[in-house]
Amino acid sequence: MSPLSGKNILLGVTGGIAAYKSAEVVRLLSAANASVRVVMTRSAKSFVGPLTFQALTGYPVYSDLLDVDEEAAMGHIQLARWADCLAVAPATADFIAKMRAGLADDLLSTLCLAAEVPILIAPAMNRAMWSNPATLENIRVLAERGIHQLGPATGLQACGENGYGRMIEADAIYQAIQSLLSRKGSLQGLSVLVSAGPTREPIDPVRYISNRSSGKMGYELARAASEAGARVSLVSGPVSLPKPNLDAIVEVQTAAEMYSAVMERARTSDIYIGAAAVADYAPIDADIQKIKKNDPSLMLSLERTPDILASVAAMNPGPFTVGFAAETESLENNAKKKLESKNLDMIVANQVGGREGGFESDQNALTVLWKDGQVRFELAPKKQLAHKLVELIAERLQYSRNPRNE
Ligand SMILES: Cc1cc2nc3c(=O)[nH]c(=O)nc-3n(C[C@H](O)[C@H](O)[C@H](O)COP(=O)(O)O)c2cc1C
Repeated sequence: MSPLSGKNILLGVTGGIAAYKSAEVVRLLSAANASVRVVMTRSAKSFVGPLTFQALTGYPVYSDLLDVDEEAAMGHIQLARWADCLAVAPATADFIAKMRAGLADDLLSTLCLAAEVPILIAPAMNRAMWSNPATLENIRVLAERGIHQLGPATGLQACGENGYGRMIEADAIYQAIQSLLSRKGSLQGLSVLVSAGPTREPIDPVRYISNRSSGKMGYELARAASEAGARVSLVSGPVSLPKPNLDAIVEVQTAAEMYSAVMERARTSDIYIGAAAVADYAPIDADIQKIKKNDPSLMLSLERTPDILASVAAMNPGPFTVGFAAETESLENNAKKKLESKNLDMIVANQVGGREGGFESDQNALTVLWKDGQVRFELAPKKQLAHKLVELIAERLQYSRNPRNE
């Protein structure tokens, strides 16, 4: 049986050239036995006729918020409650801006506000419209709110230009909906917060103190947790990695920003995985102007940054807290000390500075410790380790909630 069988999917179609591709999305979903209802914006109807969608779904297309007949057939709140997920494909620049602003002046935007189910958007527009700071800012805010973003893809566009902005293919949209609605695994129903990457502590407007963390391990952990069925939020320092498809991604720069973003979300999370390499110290006062090289030496005064891991672990009630210890020596001893002093549920220790993986590498070897046990994961790709670690976290969490099960 298809995982989409019996699922209710609301497909929003907005006014872009790619609207014709949405017919194929409907066809794929219907073939997988999902029940699909289509909502079109007024502009979308200039690109594809509603009859196409009506024929493919077997139901009339919804469009008008204030139409008495439509509202009587299935009102907007009813439609929002009916859906297991809402996908907007294509999502125009205009519609994305509306969503970010929280407008509700037509049926589809009203549904986006009323729906309490996962929302996916597949942006599609000219490459200049996509790279406009207004659009990118809107997208960033939507990602922080947990809107799933699919694409866009790069390539030749209908306007003859080449670049990012094409809607991703119908099959990829179908796959994303399927994977979102068929989440099951060891973390099903749980919410996981992951922090990843380095932080940057400004010295002056052009310089900063940072470290060599690439964010790869944290990103793989966020992906693995999502694949294990969890709702995942990622708080990420500056990295150059592709964005995974998660429930929310919050981008930060400094340790102080990471602290606020994590603390805001930790209380409502079941698990916190602190995989970020947060700077321990930051310049007390970053210079407003670029520091000139007039003096033969330069003193920087640094102060401790907030201890995110310890602050989350001290929450009561708080999430199951997993820390990372990147050590250059006495790996196990230092990790054990950190586990105890910060009152963590689990710590993942890895050797850095040597030849065995660690920062920037795609591989790693890990020693995982908890109060009365430990396990060693030998050198392996970070993706593989992430899945093993997620399974171990699920097991330890279950034990901590119900100790007699072991
Ligand atoms: C021929 C044509 C093609 C368009 N294609 C797109 C597009 O691919 N993406 C987009 O964001 N806007 C596109 N637009 C602009 C939108 O149609 C316009 O912003 C409209 O107000 C969107 O309405 P909606 O977001 O309510 O559907 C296009 C306009 C025209 C005339």
